[in-house]
Amino acid sequence: MTIRRIDQLQLGGKRVFCRVDFNVPLDDQGQVTDNTRIQATLPTLLQVLKAGGKLVLGAHLGRPKGKIDQGLRLEPVAAELARLLDQAGHRVDQAGHRVDQAGHRGAVIAAEDVVGDGVRKLVNDLPAGDVLLLENLRFHPGETKNDETFARELAALADVYVNDAFGTAHRAHASTVGMVGLVKERAAGFLMMKELEMLGRLLGTVERPFVALLGGAKVADKIAVIESLLGKVNALLIGGAMANTFLKAQGGELGASRIEDDHLDTARRILEQARTRGVTVVLPEDAVVAPSLEASAGQIVAANAVPSGQLALDIGPQTRARFAQIIATAKTVFWNGPMGVFEQTPFAAGTLAAALAVAASGAFTVVGGGDSVAALNRSGVAQKISHISTGGGASIEFIEGKTLPGIRALDS
Ligand code: 3PG
Repeated sequence: MTIRRIDQLQLGGKRVFCRVDFNVPLDDQGQVTDNTRIQATLPTLLQVLKAGGKLVLGAHLGRPKGKIDQGLRLEPVAAELARLLDQAGHRVDQAGHRVDQAGHRGAVIAAEDVVGDGVRKLVNDLPAGDVLLLENLRFHPGETKNDETFARELAALADVYVNDAFGTAHRAHASTVGMVGLVKERAAGFLMMKELEMLGRLLGTVERPFVALLGGAKVADKIAVIESLLGKVNALLIGGAMANTFLKAQGGELGASRIEDDHLDTARRILEQARTRGVTVVLPEDAVVAPSLEASAGQIVAANAVPSGQLALDIGPQTRARFAQIIATAKTVFWNGPMGVFEQTPFAAGTLAAALAVAASGAFTVVGGGDSVAALNRSGVAQKISHISTGGGASIEFIEGKTLPGIRALDS
């Protein structure tokens, strides 16, 4: 595949449509609570602004299913982007436009729609250096259906297409695939290039031992990545609710914990494959259990002997220590998924301990998935990680060895 980089294109005076992944968490007041994904696109956005391109951003928020959802409008995201651009050196001139030291403007305008006459006018009249953030692409049913007419309408807004939305690269949608070939020039943004390089290192020859730490709710979501990792890693550490299914498959008692009964055989097959390939699989020894998610505290029990009526909601202290000990010996670590119900304080300790262990390892470390990244941020150790992927599902599919549709579409 040949993928051009944004800095290989001439952008001055051109309408540059940049697909970004601004699918960020919002609080009850609609404020952005984690701006990692917005921040990560700044190098690409500044590149376009500094080159004098007309920057048009396409993004989605949540899954509005083709209808307008007031709670999923992109306005708060536009406000956060404006704030971050300010921090990056832009300031406001007398006319209310942001100006950086070199005199480049950078006002962020939130459009009220994605396509149509009003949007076309906004794009055509956009002063170079300003930013137009289109409304949530998924308000239009054509986006997720990769509808050709919708893709043509999007493509009509652009002279150059740039994809910096690694987190959405596993979706074959109108803004990630359909419109790409309809625009004259295309390239990957800096964030996309960095993701491909850093995650790509895990697919090549890695320094050993290579340890993968996987968590999260469902075995079903991780089967393909586990099977692919079994061909590469030395040890696989499994936490989170998905560990329950593995423990049950080995004859454990899991009380009222969440189990994927239809994946007990999958779990057995994975354990058998690991044995044949000489991969050490480490399951939780102890767990923090409680009768419900709302409980104010948990109790520690053996992970394979959860009392009836109790739910395993986090890995216990022995497991945390064992995982940390193995991670400390690693030269390469991949971590995806929380070790417990991280959103609830009594069950967050396992995930926070995992964050500290990965950060302390000194290995080449790659972390993906919202909860794992939030745990790194909360522990204040994010800067110690070699690469924090902005992709959840996308990073998993990439590690599975798949060519993601949004990346294939950039081939020229
Ligand atoms: C993500 O948050 O993983 C991406 O933005 C993709 O979102 P989606 O799973 O709703 O397609």
